[in-house]
Amino acid sequence: MASVDSTTLSVSGRLRSGDLLHAGLAVILLLGVWSVGGLEVSTGKVSSVEAMNGSTVLLPCTYSSCIGIKDLHFNWHFDDNGTMDKLCEGDIPMEGVEPRVSVFHDRVEFVGSSKTNNISILLWNITFDDQGKYICFAKNPKEKNRNHSAVFTLRVVDQMREIDNTLTVLIVSVLGGVIGLTIIIMVIKALVVRFLLKDDEKNKECLVSSGNDNTENGLSGAKAENKGTPKA
Ligand SMILES: *[C@@H]1O[C@H](CO)[C@@H](O)[C@H](O)[C@H]1NC(C)=O
Ligand SMILES: *[C@@H]1O[C@H](CO)[C@@H](O)[C@H](O)[C@H]1NC(C)=O
Ligand SMILES: *[C@@H]1O[C@H](CO)[C@@H](O)[C@H](O)[C@H]1NC(C)=O
Ligand SMILES: *[C@@H]1O[C@H](CO)[C@@H](O)[C@H](O)[C@H]1NC(C)=O
Ligand SMILES: *[C@@H]1O[C@H](CO)[C@@H](O)[C@H](O)[C@H]1NC(C)=O
Repeated sequence: MASVDSTTLSVSGRLRSGDLLHAGLAVILLLGVWSVGGLEVSTGKVSSVEAMNGSTVLLPCTYSSCIGIKDLHFNWHFDDNGTMDKLCEGDIPMEGVEPRVSVFHDRVEFVGSSKTNNISILLWNITFDDQGKYICFAKNPKEKNRNHSAVFTLRVVDQMREIDNTLTVLIVSVLGGVIGLTIIIMVIKALVVRFLLKDDEKNKECLVSSGNDNTENGLSGAKAENKGTPKA
């Protein structure tokens, strides 16, 4: 059986010149497919996150491949100021089969699933030392072992900064409130002053308004004349 296989292999391995051209074309086509539909690794739309000291964060990573995967190897590394710490690694024998995963970090948990092409991990109880770049790496032997990776940046913030933020929001809103109140008080004051003065002004206004009435009538009359002229 094995000898038959090897002879068929050697026969098909011997190419005639005409076949060589076809093979060359096939290779070019395949390369085209590779460059277009190869494996893609992505950390999603947002490739960085700011999380609070002590919280648990999801480090997202997904893969996709048009040509399909077989024995896909993946791993996560933490770039600790240049030295790469391996957090976990795994292999996916084929599409839809759950990976075998080894985890090398006591606060890392693999939460991915082959069903959703998801190779995300959770990092529990983060500290400031966890700040930095996380590299999701994948290699699909179907693609001549070409490497693919995506980087996810984690920034750890102190709980105090959150409080600082709420404090500034508080200060701003209090300041805004004070300014708003001052304006309202000023408006009320102006209205009250006007209201108090109105009684005194009413008599004067009567005299003035009667004079105004005359001029207004004169103006409206002028307007009417103006309207009439273009018609004529
Ligand atoms: C991190 O947060 C915890 C509370 O969640 C706090 O006790 C601790 O002091 C914080 N660490 C630093 C370095 O601020
Ligand atoms: C990171 O590396 C730089 C030099 O490459 C060094 O100066 C710095 O102290 C390092 N920081 C940490 C936290 O190790
Ligand atoms: C995270 O911290 C909580 C309480 O601080 C603890 O119960 C839990 O075991 C920790 N998880 C890990 C994975 O270290
Ligand atoms: C990957 O799996 C995790 C855990 O189930 C989930 O929270 C996350 O949303 C998934 N990501 C994608 C892109 O499906
Ligand atoms: C791919 O990554 C492996 C390590 O997993 C490395 O040995 C190899 O040189 C890389 N190949 C390329 C083409 O970058």
